[in-house]
Amino acid sequence: VPNALAPIGVFDSGVGGLSVVRALRRALPHDDVLYLGDTARLPYGSKPLAMVRGFAAESAAYLVDQRVKAIVVACNSASAAALPALAETIPVPVWGVVEPGVAAALAARRGGAVGVLGTTATIESNAYQSRLGRAGVPNWGRACPLFVPIVEERLADTPIAALVAEHYLFDRPADLDTVILACTHYPALAPTLGRLLGERVQLVDSAETTAQVVASELRSAGLVAPGPGPGRVRHLVTGDTDVFRHTAAALDWLAGEVSPLPLSELARSRSGVRA
Ligand code: DGL
Repeated sequence: VPNALAPIGVFDSGVGGLSVVRALRRALPHDDVLYLGDTARLPYGSKPLAMVRGFAAESAAYLVDQRVKAIVVACNSASAAALPALAETIPVPVWGVVEPGVAAALAARRGGAVGVLGTTATIESNAYQSRLGRAGVPNWGRACPLFVPIVEERLADTPIAALVAEHYLFDRPADLDTVILACTHYPALAPTLGRLLGERVQLVDSAETTAQVVASELRSAGLVAPGPGPGRVRHLVTGDTDVFRHTAAALDWLAGEVSPLPLSELARSRSGVRA
């Protein structure tokens, strides 16, 4: 039986999904969040799609075992690789970041091409481009593998980031009018990308739009925590907890309890998952 007081489960390859947690907290201030950061196996974005799909299945199964009321796949690479198929095997509602990002881009677009910037896994999955194509929208995807380390090293607003952005975007279509930041880390690059692309090009932050979708659908299902107190955020990480705290600070996270989660426990829950 779904329980409004149960936490929302959020998972990502590392710290990037904290941008989704931040947006969720604004939309649903009384809800508890259980965040799973699979930092031991990061990055997902440069790994084969089948491998990322397996990681996503393990995290989702683990969160179900923890009795979450819903799951948000905050990682673009995992959403692109595993959804919508994963949602069919999971007994609670599952949202990814791809659909809300595409919907926001379609709403923002003024007739030109839509660009998609993401990890290699996200771009190669074609998850965004195929949806835009089905909607009849000319689109252009570019993998930007240097962006994640640039953000984590706190270089997002520096000339280094500007040079790398120029390198990735030099052959963008002339009629580009909207760009989806299709990676958890890229909202931090918005000022740099904005300077390069100019005011004419709108940037779509999928973290923000995903939180809106999750909040409105939980609300219609009567599954929002009533409050009055603020919700609690707990973090479980498969890698080093101090490294997580340090890197999370680069993304301006909401502090909370951080506990280690051995990879062997993640794998165990997957073997117990039943459709
Ligand atoms: N969270 C990943 C994404 O949104 C970026 C980091 C990684 O490659 O693991 O695609």
